[in-house]
Amino acid sequence: MCGIVGYIGAGNPSSKPEEVVLEGLARLEYRGYDSAGVAVLAMAGLAVAKKAGRLENLREELEEHPLPHSFAAIGHTRWATHGGPSDVNAHPHVSADGRVALVHNGIIENYQKLADELSAAGITPISQTDTEIVAHHLSLLLAAGLSLLEAMCQLARRLEGSFTLVALDRESPEEIVAARRNSPLVVGLGEGENFLGSDVAAFVGYTKRALELGQDRIVRLSPTKVEVVDFFGTPDSGREFDVDWDINAAVKGGYATFMDKEIHESPTAVAETLRGRTTLDGHLMLDDMRIREDVLRSVDKIIVVACGTAAYAGHVAKYAIEHWCRIPVEVELAHEFRYRDPVVNEKTLVVAISQSGETMDTLMAIRHAREQGSRVLAIVNTHGSTIARESDAVLYTHAGPEVAVASTKAFIAQITACYILGLYLAELRGNKFVDEVATYLDELTKMPGRIEEVLEAEEEVRALAQSMADATSVLFLGRHVGFPVALEGALKLKELAYIHAEGFAAGELKHGPIALVEENLPVFVIVPTPRRPLLHSKVVSNLQEVRARGARTIAIAEEGDEEAAKFADTVIWVPRTTPTLMMPLVTVVPLQIFASELARVKGYDVDKPRNLAKSVTVE
Ligand code: G6P
Repeated sequence: MCGIVGYIGAGNPSSKPEEVVLEGLARLEYRGYDSAGVAVLAMAGLAVAKKAGRLENLREELEEHPLPHSFAAIGHTRWATHGGPSDVNAHPHVSADGRVALVHNGIIENYQKLADELSAAGITPISQTDTEIVAHHLSLLLAAGLSLLEAMCQLARRLEGSFTLVALDRESPEEIVAARRNSPLVVGLGEGENFLGSDVAAFVGYTKRALELGQDRIVRLSPTKVEVVDFFGTPDSGREFDVDWDINAAVKGGYATFMDKEIHESPTAVAETLRGRTTLDGHLMLDDMRIREDVLRSVDKIIVVACGTAAYAGHVAKYAIEHWCRIPVEVELAHEFRYRDPVVNEKTLVVAISQSGETMDTLMAIRHAREQGSRVLAIVNTHGSTIARESDAVLYTHAGPEVAVASTKAFIAQITACYILGLYLAELRGNKFVDEVATYLDELTKMPGRIEEVLEAEEEVRALAQSMADATSVLFLGRHVGFPVALEGALKLKELAYIHAEGFAAGELKHGPIALVEENLPVFVIVPTPRRPLLHSKVVSNLQEVRARGARTIAIAEEGDEEAAKFADTVIWVPRTTPTLMMPLVTVVPLQIFASELARVKGYDVDKPRNLAKSVTVE
């Protein structure tokens, strides 16, 4: 769970390598932020600065002790796995002979064996990290006469676990060498300069041309050349692609927090995810479809696997896909799916949902599914990510980079993508005619405008949050597609405001949770449209039940729903939305704003909640 950046440029040594790397680290800080470091390769050799804590600490250190001008630099923002966050455990790690500087994302599982070999060679590590062990081994191979590329190949073949490694060799200032297995790394292709990053956000300010690396690959960058080989040194090409993320997308753009900015980008995220989805004759398209149509027609079960917020998008997918396609859909947390011997076969379609495309639990689940013969379709936001690469088909959510740890616009884009998938399958399998699908798509294209309307009432939601600054517990109730929205509302509050929050299926209230209700307990109720009277009346009854027991009720209700308003202390109105299945796109937005504001009022870091990372690349 770390961020990695690398840069190499042509000409005389300059401050640019360090600047590029620090800027890249700022963009990748969401990947981990308990320590940061940079190594530069200068005339006089390697120089390293590293500090525990936020990137700001490293910047202060660099102001006090500037690094020399350089040819190349590597940097790292860390989220500790081996060894706690400290200056000495921060990356880069330097070999005992001072020849190699190395950064690493992942875990080296045979680290103990490698460490034992070092002690036999008389080398004593100074940190508690697996990375330092690798740095020493790399320098031993260089000392034995191998080139940096050869040494990396040889070492990578010995390493077990997951890793992205990026190394500088003091004796070889014209190159950076990196290796990857099960951990992300993308190359940025410049003119007379080249870049490396855990994702394209690291270098998108400099180049929009990028190269995706396959599994078990090593890349050697010089200022003018990019050479890719496998772990045995056999040449490979990688896949070039153009980055469609804008540099402005990665900065706060006037908002107080990335989360606020990203909430406001939700309408665009929906519109972009929908853009260009239909062929001239009105058929729906996914992005990267490598599953044959006859295989998709024969699918008899869908299992959605995901974690966190993405899993709640999966819950919404279940309601939509089952209703439109009449295929049974299960939704499962990826880590539970992986280790319970699930019944999957070639007739099962596994749908993996992930913003980052790097969540290790989800990656392991799809690998397991593919081993059992299932096809995997990924709904992913990050191009070039491992889950996208390892799936049989990809539907990209074009939400742009999401920096705040708590997912907002990506969640909304994921739900949109789930609707697209449902409609695509419904048409392909003959459950819906093209014109029926077109009607639904038409409704989807109205959703950005409806989300805008919800955002216009933002200040009322913020005022509500301010009035609840002292709440210690909050409940969320929903039925049908309102249920996953309730779960997501509660998750957001836990993540950001660190208060006890729970989401329930409203029908479950009477089976237990109602015992929690006491005087003044805030209870959010996501009310379905009155145009579904059966569903609506049940939820309004739940609203009444909790109100009667003294709860402070907050209804998220459709404009004009007087019934709901009767039993709510506060109503947050959302615009009329058809079909009901699409209501989560509007009902979740106030809950995101509420959580962000409550965290702000309580003085917490909205973008980087404690103990959480945006991309969890360990199991
Ligand atoms: C982490 C993040 C969550 C996110 C989850 C899944 O737990 O803190 O916000 O929902 O991972 O991430 P993914 O990138 O797979 O969507």
